[in-house]
Amino acid sequence: MSLSVALDIDPGIDDALAVALALRSSEIRLELVTTVAGNGPLEMTTRNALRVLHHLGADDIPVAAGAAQPLRKPFYGAIGYHGHDALGGIDLPDSPHAADTKTAVDALYEFAATKPGERVLVATGPLTNVAQAFQRHPELPAMLKELVIMGGAFGLTRYGTGNQTPVAEFNIWQDPDAAEVVFASGASMTIVGLDVTNDPATALADDDLARLRSGATPTSRMAADITAFALKTHPNCALHDPLALAVVLDRTLFDFAHGSLEVHAAPDTEMGRTIVRADNPPPCPPAAVASAVDGPRFKQLFLSRMMEH
Ligand code: BDR
Ligand code: CA
Repeated sequence: MSLSVALDIDPGIDDALAVALALRSSEIRLELVTTVAGNGPLEMTTRNALRVLHHLGADDIPVAAGAAQPLRKPFYGAIGYHGHDALGGIDLPDSPHAADTKTAVDALYEFAATKPGERVLVATGPLTNVAQAFQRHPELPAMLKELVIMGGAFGLTRYGTGNQTPVAEFNIWQDPDAAEVVFASGASMTIVGLDVTNDPATALADDDLARLRSGATPTSRMAADITAFALKTHPNCALHDPLALAVVLDRTLFDFAHGSLEVHAAPDTEMGRTIVRADNPPPCPPAAVASAVDGPRFKQLFLSRMMEH
């Protein structure tokens, strides 16, 4: 039986690729998409989630919009990296469908409470929605089978330094207060940070773009257009968010360190720095932090799924 998954996202070019990977992976069933302000403002990330689902023939998956602002600090955004519409300006028509009238907090609670202990939430944007849902429903963390997060930079590999500041990864830096709430929640957590997602062996390059271009499906076309956009301005197309989803598809792709998670939330130059402490028995179950990845095997999985339908 396939695993029920919800995606909390801020699309975002790599968030869009994570949605595509989720839809084309028979190991899981995507039940819900919730959106958060992150790579773009909430209105933009919600519109992008809807148009990606529409393009991929998945209008039946509900989209619930969440937080327009981080818990305490002002919204910032990452349009510079993701393009003027946060989706690389690719040709993708608007969806005729609107977001659900439910809020992300309500939708996430219902998602988990329907089958306590059985469902997985994968969060690939700032953690504002997840923190708000945990604050509103203190029983929610324990209801999730697992919470998988794309975020942080833990210094576990030579790639594990910041991308927003020298010490902070974007998702965590955007809402460190939310990360603090989530890290202390007691949820069973796996976190995939820049330590592995900035490993160039996991990123797409020109030859991968050529392979995607040889496909003729909505999935391969969208993936190719996004990759082409990224390659115009960057040496490669990083697959941060698909790597977080890959944890639920094939955990053996990764090695993990274990320990309690800490985030520097104070608004100074260290803001958003993440730490995993193995030597300090935590009050909650230790999190698994990705410390290595089999890049070629991950890319093979990702590309084959993009080409299949
Ligand atoms: C993360 O930040 C966002 O810009 C990407 O979508 C990814 O979730 C990488 O730091
Ligand atoms: Ca993201």
